[in-house]
Amino acid sequence: MAVVWRQALSVSNNLIDADHQHLLSLINTFEDIFTADRPIGDLLAAIGELRDYTHAHFAREERIMLALRYHKYDQHKLAHARLIEQLDLAAKPLRELGEVLSATAAALPEEIRDSLVGLLRQWLIEHILGEDLQLKPLLAEQSKNFAP
Ligand SMILES: [Fe+2]
Ligand SMILES: [Fe+2]
Repeated sequence: MAVVWRQALSVSNNLIDADHQHLLSLINTFEDIFTADRPIGDLLAAIGELRDYTHAHFAREERIMLALRYHKYDQHKLAHARLIEQLDLAAKPLRELGEVLSATAAALPEEIRDSLVGLLRQWLIEHILGEDLQLKPLLAEQSKNFAP
């Protein structure tokens, strides 16, 4: 089921909210790939795109946290690094299927598929709800366009 961005996910900053909306749409692409049983090559491309965008988003978010002198900056930055590591780890078995790129998503072992989808959901939803939203009180004191 697609994950839909809603106002409750807003951290009171336009830049971060727009990033989160885009990340959700990238994550929803994965579900489309599985539903439509598209080639594994498409899945790898989607993972690459998600990784690049996430990397850029984390950098933007960390810049904002630094400017706000957020007291949990180090801890939050560490969580970002861990998330990227987990994504790389989950993508590894898929890359190893590189020689059968003509295979489609349905050819993936169920546990690989489930762990990928589960990770992505947990990833964004839990991180945004659990950690990013803690920035909201600080961000609410700034303009919505605060982008240091
Ligand atoms: Fe974050
Ligand atoms: Fe974030």
